[in-house]
Amino acid sequence: MSVEIQTEIEQAVNSRRNFAIISHPDAGKTTLTEKLLLYGGAIHEAGAVKARRAQRKATSDWMEMEQQRGISITSTVLQFLYKDFQINLLDTPGHQDFSEDTYRTLAAADNAVMLIDAAKGLEPQTRKLFEVCQMRSLPIFTFVNKLDRPGREGLELLDEIEQELGLQTYPVNWPIGMGDRFKGVFDRRQQQIHLFERRAHGSQTAGETVIDLGDPKIEEFLEQDLYYQLKEELEILNEIGSEFDLEKVHAGKMTPVFFGSAMTNFGVQLFLNSFLEYALKPEGRKSSVGTIEPTYSEFTGFVFKLQANMDPKHRDRVAFIRVCTGKFEKDMTVKHARTGKIVRLSRPQKLFAQGRESLEVAYPGDVIGLNNPGVFAIGDTIYNGQKLEYEGIPYFSPEIFAYLKNPNPSKFKQFQKGITELQEEGAIQVMYSTDDFKRDPILAAVGQLQFEVVQFRLQNEYNVETTLEPLPYSVARWVAAGWTALEKAGRLFNTLVVKDSFGRPVLLFKNEWNLQQIKEDHPELKLNSTAPVG
Ligand code: G4P
Repeated sequence: MSVEIQTEIEQAVNSRRNFAIISHPDAGKTTLTEKLLLYGGAIHEAGAVKARRAQRKATSDWMEMEQQRGISITSTVLQFLYKDFQINLLDTPGHQDFSEDTYRTLAAADNAVMLIDAAKGLEPQTRKLFEVCQMRSLPIFTFVNKLDRPGREGLELLDEIEQELGLQTYPVNWPIGMGDRFKGVFDRRQQQIHLFERRAHGSQTAGETVIDLGDPKIEEFLEQDLYYQLKEELEILNEIGSEFDLEKVHAGKMTPVFFGSAMTNFGVQLFLNSFLEYALKPEGRKSSVGTIEPTYSEFTGFVFKLQANMDPKHRDRVAFIRVCTGKFEKDMTVKHARTGKIVRLSRPQKLFAQGRESLEVAYPGDVIGLNNPGVFAIGDTIYNGQKLEYEGIPYFSPEIFAYLKNPNPSKFKQFQKGITELQEEGAIQVMYSTDDFKRDPILAAVGQLQFEVVQFRLQNEYNVETTLEPLPYSVARWVAAGWTALEKAGRLFNTLVVKDSFGRPVLLFKNEWNLQQIKEDHPELKLNSTAPVG
């Protein structure tokens, strides 16, 4: 490896910042994404991403959309340059596209932005995604959104994050007013007040006035009561708040908090600037031969997501690969750790807001999309140089369950084959009843979309028509310890005992309350919400 290429890789690593946004539907993820692109200079007028989403919302037939687009919008990775940084925003599918992929995307992210609606505070989907971030100790940056509407007090929101998530908070900026009187934010690092002007729909960057905290001119710009309120709140923060600690931020123990309004652009640029300063660049990753630094000269990466093309005429599958080390080059050959095969990485794609672009090179922290039908499964490592495998991506707790029925016995073989292959690929989890008479496989998914994909693909790729019989459970836990005692206890109230595709016992509960009940009744049980692969 030449010195030039080694330097090129090091520079690429230093300039890359990769992140995913975690939020509950409607918190403003699409809007914030768009505004980050606007400030990042990747688009010149906000509206394009939203327009596309609106178009998507209007189409009830998801399959039809997939066919028209060839590839799902959900697989978008946005890449843009801002200042000296190459920013990669991994889009976590939400809404009706929420699936296990949403969690898996976080396995490819180096940082997370937790987006919260100021009026609602923490919401269920945000909490779940937060837990996945914590498993990987990802740095979490909090953006409290929609300050232009009446919402909860800043201090109350900080308290909720601290108490419920166990995360220390450090407000980097602080809101001035709220709702109709939301005027701007105070930057605690520079000790400056940023006052913004509202512009229609925030399609252009917001006009801004910056004043020092003690500047007498402040009276011209800010009502007295808001100024005094700000000073009072800042004093409270200084007294009771934590000191900023970047190490804690990087360890996922402290979250820098920003307030703003994505819609009107208030606070977006300040957030972006601080985020880039504090976010982690691509780091070393654990593998079968120890931690591998991103500057390792050989190319390595892993598959975190597979997207099947729903057009029956083009059955290609895109494997999304997170580049971990070295330099990716189009048409290079690599080794596939699971099978030992040599694979040529042809037809690479870089995904941008506007569509597919072909890609020539990629570096650690980047994501590439490859068309390699049938070769890849979730979690697979590809590498050059010494043999290694990155830690697999676990199975995440499914939330919807249904028996999958094949009404046509002559299709038994195709049915079995299809189910096995789709499960191995990671499209769905498959579980089995422990009752000998119930032989139909149970599909277990994080989102409804996964069921649709499985049924659609069984029909199109395996020629098997299937029906679903929904099961009334919503929580799954793998039994890590205490199984023998539980087996002896016999039937459990409102709980179904199943086995996953590796034969591991899993308990399905109707709701969280039932789960708590079982935990109290059987303190010897150790239950996990994720399970390792294999
Ligand atoms: P999501 O991707 O997280 O689901 O949220 P999205 O950005 O689509 O935002 C959800 C709704 O919240 C949208 O309103 C959006 O305009 C609004 N919103 C986002 N950020 C802000 C903000 O800072 N302040 C206020 N007041 N609203 C915000 P909608 O009515 O569903 O759509 P639209 O008619 O505005 O397009």
